[in-house]
Amino acid sequence: MPVTIRPLNPSSPADLAAVVALDLTFTEEFFPERVWNAAERERELRESLARGERVVVACDGERVVGAAWFRFTRDRWSGQDVCRLSFIAVDRDVRSKGVGRILMDHVKSDGQREDCSVLEVSVNEGNERAAAFYELCGFVPVRRVLRFPLKTNL
Ligand SMILES: CC(C)(COP(=O)(O)OP(=O)(O)OC[C@H]1O[C@@H](n2cnc3c(N)ncnc32)[C@H](O)[C@@H]1OP(=O)(O)O)[C@@H](O)C(=O)NCCC(=O)NCCS
Repeated sequence: MPVTIRPLNPSSPADLAAVVALDLTFTEEFFPERVWNAAERERELRESLARGERVVVACDGERVVGAAWFRFTRDRWSGQDVCRLSFIAVDRDVRSKGVGRILMDHVKSDGQREDCSVLEVSVNEGNERAAAFYELCGFVPVRRVLRFPLKTNL
């Protein structure tokens, strides 16, 4: 599948809508209880871009079929410059065709260009497909996130 990667164009309503739609797919799959608000998500996306976070989209011709959202930061404890991937998703109907890997290669190159030491991502327990994908992309587990519920309805 011929895919090109480019930065999201923040002044393109079509680009913003495509990334929000991918975000919705992801949220429905992994946070089904979350009340979805597309306008709020678009505002969050715009604010992130204004803060300097990066979003790249994978395109098949004109159609956006995937996206990755990441930022560069310094880890408070290790002092390392880190590229943090907060979101990567590919349209359901084009998964397992290599688009995710092309997006990930792009994020890795951007992180290297920014002189980051590592690329980090977290994955939800139970998301076996993503875990397999990250492993294939060369990621190794380094820490565990522990949670204690502070509200009884969680
Ligand atoms: C994870 C995700 C981004 C991968 O994108 P993709 O385009 O399907 O990935 P690729 O086609 O590049 O696949 C790369 C490898 O990932 C693994 N993989 C992809 N789809 C898989 C599946 N359905 N089951 C098991 N492994 C899978 C395979 O090892 C695959 O290698 P192969 O093609 O040589 O078998 C995509 O499945 C997705 O959007 N998932 C929903 C959102 C999500 O979970 N995002 C990650 C959490 S932030």
